Amino acid sequence: MLKRCGRRLLLALAGALLACLLVLTADPPPPPVPAERGRRALRSLAGPAGVAPVRGLGAAAVAVAAPGALAREVHSLSEYFSLLTRSRRDAGPPLGGAPRPSDGHPRPPVEPLAPRDVFIAVKTTRKFHRARLDLLLETWISRHKEMTFIFTDGDDEVLARHTGNVVNTNCSAAHSRQALSCKMAVEYDRFIESGRKWFCHVDDDNYVNLQALLRLLASYRHSQDVYLGKPSLDRPIQATERVSENTVRPVHFWFATGGAGFCISRGLALKMSPWASRGHFMSTAERIRLPDDCTIGYIVETLLGVPLIRSGLFHSHLENLQQVPTSELHEQVTLSYGTFENKQNTVHVKGPFSVDADPSRFRSVHCNLYPDTPWCPHTAH
Ligand SMILES: *[C@@H]1O[C@H](CO)[C@@H](O)[C@H](O)[C@H]1NC(C)=O
Repeated sequence: MLKRCGRRLLLALAGALLACLLVLTADPPPPPVPAERGRRALRSLAGPAGVAPVRGLGAAAVAVAAPGALAREVHSLSEYFSLLTRSRRDAGPPLGGAPRPSDGHPRPPVEPLAPRDVFIAVKTTRKFHRARLDLLLETWISRHKEMTFIFTDGDDEVLARHTGNVVNTNCSAAHSRQALSCKMAVEYDRFIESGRKWFCHVDDDNYVNLQALLRLLASYRHSQDVYLGKPSLDRPIQATERVSENTVRPVHFWFATGGAGFCISRGLALKMSPWASRGHFMSTAERIRLPDDCTIGYIVETLLGVPLIRSGLFHSHLENLQQVPTSELHEQVTLSYGTFENKQNTVHVKGPFSVDADPSRFRSVHCNLYPDTPWCPHTAH
């Protein structure tokens, strides 16, 4: 039955390519799935002909809006992202009706901004300190250590020697919805305490171009409501919001994908406080049973009515990074690397390092941005 659901969902997604963004919700929203039943449903989805690999994220009830079709529920996040990847591949570049990212138009600065005005939270986990974080510490984090705070789940003396800005969140190291929300909750509280003007969240596989970030943020006022990032979907996500013990209602909203990084102005962050501060973030995430980045979108768009400002300057490993024009690499705010459809997915940049020596391409990007770096070959420009 769930398998059939998945197939119908794929069909619905194919239909959605001609989409209007209106969500037809002729179906009454289903009751919330109790956690244990949800997990069983996930296991059955992961069966031989399963729709997607399942990483045990718990029962996330997500539906994707489709024109002329009823909203379909997706029962796990990985299934959701797998569908997303598929719909992108089938669709190819820019979809009709999909909002275009507002990139390529440099905005004039409206507010002077210093590195210390920005709080960049890097989310990681103990087992990736060597494999991922060291590369970031050597490259972009090293340029302005005071901007960046590392949120992890285990103590590490080696890391502590690199930077004092390490926060052990004491959250679970599991890649679960709850663990992710737990870290985001700590990031939010630390940002509020810091008194800084801008909060930016990135993952441990992101390269942040600090100058491009400062330029982008300086084109907005930190006292206004600003939520900046890139959605990974071409339509709003639809979720079921638990209003009370036995009442749910469908909601749909845009969210900036956490894997590409996103930023929030202090003005907006303060308004989020009733749903985000001191553990409230966790209960808000439970209300829609979605992970951290979706929960941010829910608070900002649905609860506060502030629309996401799309920027094409943020990049996650869920998109084809080869498509970022080499000539515009220096303008991008975030980059990423990983695998996409079983192939290495990295930005295309000529040297100074070979792909073997620099598989993520971050060292090469870094030497192009900062040729004065001691470990960069002198031929770098
Ligand atoms: C994590 O636990 C340690 C030890 O109990 C504590 O000092 C630290 O403040 C905790 N971290 C957070 C973010 O609460």
